[in-house]
Amino acid sequence: MSKPLVYVTRPIPEAGLKLIHETCDVRMWEGDLPVPRDTLLEEIKEVDGLYSLLTEKIDKEVMAAGRNLKVISNMAVGYDNVDVPAATQHKIPVGNTPGVLTETSADFAFALLMSAARRLSEAEHYVKAGKWQTWSPTLLLGHDIHQATLGIIGLGRIGQAVAQRARGFSMRILYHGGSDEAAARHLGAEKVSLEQLLGESDFISVHTPLNEATRGFISTEEFKLMKSNAILINTARGPVVDPDALFDALSSQKIFAAALDVTDPEPIPADHPLVSLDNCLIVPHLASASFATRNKMAEMAAQNLLAGLRGEHLPNCVNPEVYENDS
Ligand code: DGY
Repeated sequence: MSKPLVYVTRPIPEAGLKLIHETCDVRMWEGDLPVPRDTLLEEIKEVDGLYSLLTEKIDKEVMAAGRNLKVISNMAVGYDNVDVPAATQHKIPVGNTPGVLTETSADFAFALLMSAARRLSEAEHYVKAGKWQTWSPTLLLGHDIHQATLGIIGLGRIGQAVAQRARGFSMRILYHGGSDEAAARHLGAEKVSLEQLLGESDFISVHTPLNEATRGFISTEEFKLMKSNAILINTARGPVVDPDALFDALSSQKIFAAALDVTDPEPIPADHPLVSLDNCLIVPHLASASFATRNKMAEMAAQNLLAGLRGEHLPNCVNPEVYENDS
């Protein structure tokens, strides 16, 4: 019997690739940059399964071209790059990788929070530029983290893990969005309106998925409500924060700083106005980038892919409604 054919859109950690190779014929885009759209549209024609990354737009056109496509497995917890309703229409299950990256991503969000508060990036540039001449009582002053107020937008898995870390710093924790009230109580997090969160938080950490309701969620009006010492951390998706409004807020010192793991556009060009600001720390979408976690994500996505090819329910499926008429 012939093996199913799958397309992998970039080299992935070995743990995942090994699993796929055991039972599938594999074609893979070997480049360091995302697969060109026309190549993807060509490759998808023959394959039974697609193993994608968040850098590919998997839309109606891709699905229509994938005549034999039985499963889409996205190696990420977020899946805003996939047109899920279109996949459901085509009866194609879509897999993601929740859970395995929660703690690693929360570590990173907290690292960004601390770096922005204590101006680590600016300080490092200062030393490397040969500017360090003496200890100074007023050099590169930042904001305390301990006992400050942290506002979490989206108290889901990662938001909760960030709150857990904040407890170690005796922070007051507010949240907006997120339905697990028992978890919130356990974390000592107080549910508040968005206005209260924006108005009272020293740190605002964004953990909401990107969808039509959250696109541009933090914009001019929201920045107006923030404190002048506020620090915004975004490890969710770039378009949740309006980049022009963020630039205005940072360049006019309406807020103190921002730390961004995700940007709009992404990648952000080096000549983008936000990149020129000392009070905007930007890193290239790294929150889940630990060796161990990327291996787990690669394996989990492989398991979703293989289950879909066997005709089984995906262990982590974002559109379980595709199974509704199964007996
Ligand atoms: C995700 O999984 O959605 C992250 O953004 C990358 O790990």
